[in-house]
Amino acid sequence: MARAAPRPAVLMVAAVVAVLLPDAAEPRILLTLDDFGAVGDGVADDTKAFAGAWTAACAAADNVILNVPAGKTFRIWPLTLVGPCSSEIKLLISGNIVAPESPSDWGPGDRRQWLHFHKVQDLKVTGGGIIDGRGQQWWARSSCEEKKNCTAQPAPKAVHFEDCHGISVKGITLQNSQQYHLTFTRSSNVEANYLRVTSPEDSIDTKGIHLVDSKNVHVMDNLISTGDDCVSIVGNCTDVRLRAISCGPGHGISIGTLGVNGSVDYVEKIKVDTLFISNAENGVRIKTTKNDVGGFARKVKFESIMMRNVTNPIIIDQGNSDDPADSSEAPQTAATAVQVEKINYIDIRGTSASEHAVTFSCSDAKPCRHLSLTNVNLTRVDGRKASSYCRKAFGKTTGTVIPESCLSKEDFVHHVPRHYEEDEEEDSDS
Ligand SMILES: *[C@@H]1O[C@H](CO)[C@@H](O)[C@H](O)[C@H]1NC(C)=O
Ligand SMILES: *[C@@H]1O[C@H](CO)[C@@H](O)[C@H](O)[C@H]1NC(C)=O
Ligand SMILES: *[C@@H]1O[C@H](CO)[C@@H](O)[C@H](O)[C@H]1NC(C)=O
Ligand SMILES: *[C@@H]1O[C@H](CO)[C@@H](O)[C@H](O)[C@H]1NC(C)=O
Ligand SMILES: *[C@@H]1O[C@H](CO)[C@@H](O)[C@H](O)[C@H]1NC(C)=O
Repeated sequence: MARAAPRPAVLMVAAVVAVLLPDAAEPRILLTLDDFGAVGDGVADDTKAFAGAWTAACAAADNVILNVPAGKTFRIWPLTLVGPCSSEIKLLISGNIVAPESPSDWGPGDRRQWLHFHKVQDLKVTGGGIIDGRGQQWWARSSCEEKKNCTAQPAPKAVHFEDCHGISVKGITLQNSQQYHLTFTRSSNVEANYLRVTSPEDSIDTKGIHLVDSKNVHVMDNLISTGDDCVSIVGNCTDVRLRAISCGPGHGISIGTLGVNGSVDYVEKIKVDTLFISNAENGVRIKTTKNDVGGFARKVKFESIMMRNVTNPIIIDQGNSDDPADSSEAPQTAATAVQVEKINYIDIRGTSASEHAVTFSCSDAKPCRHLSLTNVNLTRVDGRKASSYCRKAFGKTTGTVIPESCLSKEDFVHHVPRHYEEDEEEDSDS
């Protein structure tokens, strides 16, 4: 069939599009660690090779793909990979990256982190490989720290992105971290998806994904199974979305601890949905310390969450020493506290391993307010009746709520300025 010849104007538009859209013809630079003298036998020190490869990738004028080759194991000592780089980098980790096993092998340098990305932008980490912190000896030291029986330093963060923007980490395994598996500090526009994050249940302090002072973060489609928190959110974090995560064993999802050491933390617009949490200490927790400086956790939505054998499925813990949820020795003397408000729990069901399936232990100085429970059904693992615990907790329930809610009515709302009530509705539904 004959077609009319395209008009010149259309041709010109097509040519411009071809130039702008990435396709197979786009210049790309392919590098592998092997090009920089890496051995990859799991014994040799490949730190210099990795550093050299990063420097080359970072300086390259075209988009770079840096491969950590499959079938090999690269032993890497603590390393900082610095940006900004000239163009976008894809770090395709298909083999294994392992840390030195013994803390004494780490040398006298920086022990706060192992693989540290600093001021990097537009980086994609992917490739199906494994980053293994080999943290067993660090955990043993952490356990002696817990018993206050030694003077060990805190264990390192395994993979740490600091002051980074436009980062995605997808489709790799992070395992046996010395402490935190994957941390983002002062970073934005982050995705951490399709990850397998695992350490043994009894590994001390091993946390999954840790967000500090970061915004616009998506954490989705992950398996996280560690000794401590699955995901923790602290500092000034906003616009964080967690979705489709299988979590446990470990300590569940945690906002906080906020307000530690006089830090003023503002956490808001956090949306957590479609989670399966099993055999964990907490389900969804908000934890603050008593402080005199304030801060808040607000506009948080926990939705569609299935709990199985979770000790504290729903918990707000503001550190009251006379409560069942007690976790601090400090007396309740502070004149103010971290304000916890506008927290929504929707469609949360499953089993609690303890009597208090719902715990709202809030502060005298700043009671929790605008808490909302909608369609909650939590029963006890052993079939006995669960109950709720409330202290200074105000809010409402909608639909069926089991165990029966103990929230107080918002009878003090007349103290609240009118305009405050008007932004009641969700503003982030991305
Ligand atoms: C503390 O350290 C001492 C000496 O190293 C040891 O004998 C003792 O068993 C340790 N205690 C605990 C609780 O680990
Ligand atoms: C957190 O936000 C507050 C208010 O914007 C600010 O005063 C404080 O310095 C921030 N903290 C950090 C660590 O950025
Ligand atoms: C608390 O602050 C002090 C003094 O700034 C510091 O030495 C200490 O490490 C901090 N502790 C924590 C847990 O951040
Ligand atoms: C409940 O979870 C705990 C760990 O928190 C585990 O030790 C225990 O075996 C689990 N019980 C059941 C019935 O799964
Ligand atoms: C709550 O959950 C229990 C246990 O799964 C179930 O038997 C019960 O029917 C549920 N109640 C409602 C009102 O959905």
